[in-house]
Amino acid sequence: MNTITEIDIKKLIEAVNSSRKYRELDLPEEMLRDLIAVNLPNSRSMAELKTNFRTALHNVIAPYLETIDYDKEIQALQAENLSLPETLEAYCLKIMAKHASTRERIPHLEAFFNTIFEIIGSPHSILDLACAMDPLCLPWIKLSPGASFKAYDINGPRVRYLQAFLSLAYPNYQAIQQDILLHPPKEKADCAFFFKEAHRLEKRQPGSTRILLDGINVSTVVLSLPSVDLKGHHSLEVFHRHLVEKALEGTTWQQEVHMVGNELLFFIHKDPA
Ligand SMILES: C[S@@+](CC[C@H](N)C(=O)[O-])C[C@H]1O[C@@H](n2cnc3c(N)ncnc32)[C@H](O)[C@@H]1O
Repeated sequence: MNTITEIDIKKLIEAVNSSRKYRELDLPEEMLRDLIAVNLPNSRSMAELKTNFRTALHNVIAPYLETIDYDKEIQALQAENLSLPETLEAYCLKIMAKHASTRERIPHLEAFFNTIFEIIGSPHSILDLACAMDPLCLPWIKLSPGASFKAYDINGPRVRYLQAFLSLAYPNYQAIQQDILLHPPKEKADCAFFFKEAHRLEKRQPGSTRILLDGINVSTVVLSLPSVDLKGHHSLEVFHRHLVEKALEGTTWQQEVHMVGNELLFFIHKDPA
């Protein structure tokens, strides 16, 4: 099957936007169209395309769909005291624990960011790509006054919540809803964080890590990947080292690798000194 009508595309998109699983998420139509387009060549019928499209969408969104009610969390923010370091940290830990990916990092939070800043120094600008709840780690990310921090995610309600949190706790920082594969952020920054998402972006589109790395205007990328599978049974280290090596093939970019907890940290220097 290599052609499809505009009416078919609209039907597939409409079905997603009205489904219980996705209707709250305000997913950009452009991303849904992209997922349909990349699954078109390997689908022999409309039914198969529908299945492949929904599987691809599930892989992008659902492993980290959790039970956070973002509207409720936005309202609850008003009652929080985020002006003292202790209360801010306690609040951030409480919210981080609600999301599987940041929850895994809590036991290693200090070591994780200490390792990063020992290597990259003190950046003045950070882009956090596919951020999920990473901005709740900001109390452990010691940025200098005047530094900029922009966090990108595809999930609409999550981004609205993050923006509400940032405007109270870090008014100069921003959360932005954007598909970082279709639109890698263009602004120049010292550093990009790209934590625990490259392996899933590669599933969406093989070669996507390289597309993203090429598309962003930063000198250093800190990319992390899990060193074991979600159940902790199998090592993914060789596989994930290979993923990064492949993304860097043919470039002069340098990488160094560290491990904190069960996260492999790849420091990719795009402009080697
Ligand atoms: C693995 S989770 C969390 C990653 C987070 N950086 C961390 O370390 O906890 C992946 C996040 O990436 C977001 N995401 C997936 N694909 C994306 C894309 N193309 N553009 C922006 N965000 C994306 C999802 O909405 C989800 O919040």
